[in-house]
Amino acid sequence: MFDAEAVLAHYQKPVPRYTSYPTAPQFKEGVGAELFNSALANLGSTDPVSAYLHIPFCDRLCWFCGCHTKHTLKYTPIKRYIDFLVEEVNLFARKTTFKPLLGALHLGGGSPSLLKRDDLIRLRHALEGAFDFNIDTEISVEIDPSDVDQQTIDALTEFGLNRASVGVQDFHPDVQSAINRPQSFEITRDVIQQLRKAGVNSINIDALYGLPLQSKERLLRTIDRCVDLEPDRIALFGYAHVPWLKKRNYPATPT
Ligand SMILES: C[S@@+](CC[C@H](N)C(=O)[O-])C[C@H]1O[C@@H](n2cnc3c(N)ncnc32)[C@H](O)[C@@H]1O
Ligand code: SF4
Repeated sequence: MFDAEAVLAHYQKPVPRYTSYPTAPQFKEGVGAELFNSALANLGSTDPVSAYLHIPFCDRLCWFCGCHTKHTLKYTPIKRYIDFLVEEVNLFARKTTFKPLLGALHLGGGSPSLLKRDDLIRLRHALEGAFDFNIDTEISVEIDPSDVDQQTIDALTEFGLNRASVGVQDFHPDVQSAINRPQSFEITRDVIQQLRKAGVNSINIDALYGLPLQSKERLLRTIDRCVDLEPDRIALFGYAHVPWLKKRNYPATPT
């Protein structure tokens, strides 16, 4: 029988936000080339590895966001960044004596849903030169629904997307305007439907609690609407107010 109290007692402790993995606390002094090389040298040929590719660009900055990203309305800087990322993957391929099996690939950001087809495809080719993909390789991408049209879905499908993480945060218009993230329920629903139609069977939704102008009622309403979208998982993060790390244009200090 599901014992909610036991589950709460077990999990009720702060853990690092895991929108990227390994999480930030894992990167400390001593994590450098030496450790990386020794991990590579000890890698067995059947050990699956995970790769995280960060795309640090957005076409709008949400005021709550603590992620490492940069605003751009031009595509040129993104394309140049992909040039470097492809080179980085090629460097990795030259360092290994065999192609490690890729268990999971995650594109996070920023907004990787901004990437155009050609860049996704050349990234995929570079990755295929460095890693072995198989039928079980999980390929996930963080998706800001405001960026997405059918072309984006087609390009992501061609890239191999089989798991999507869709950003919602909160559906209430007042909360959305306080965090500079206008995003209707309908747009979100349509994107999730398009993803499902394209064969993406695993969908996560990111939501946040503790945002400015959010109340318990508004949060519960957001969660109900997320549940209506029938995701496989809802990741409910506590809002981290970190203006000293990422100074966005905060309209007010939340209480
Ligand atoms: C890279 S971001 C989102 C990806 C995509 N650009 C989007 O907006 O949907 C990943 C997630 O981190 C969470 N996040 C960002 N800033 C945060 C903060 N200050 N505190 C807690 N969670 C945060 C949000 O839930 C967000 O959806
Ligand atoms: S939440 Fe997403 S779209 Fe908004 S600034 Fe952060 S990474 Fe960019």
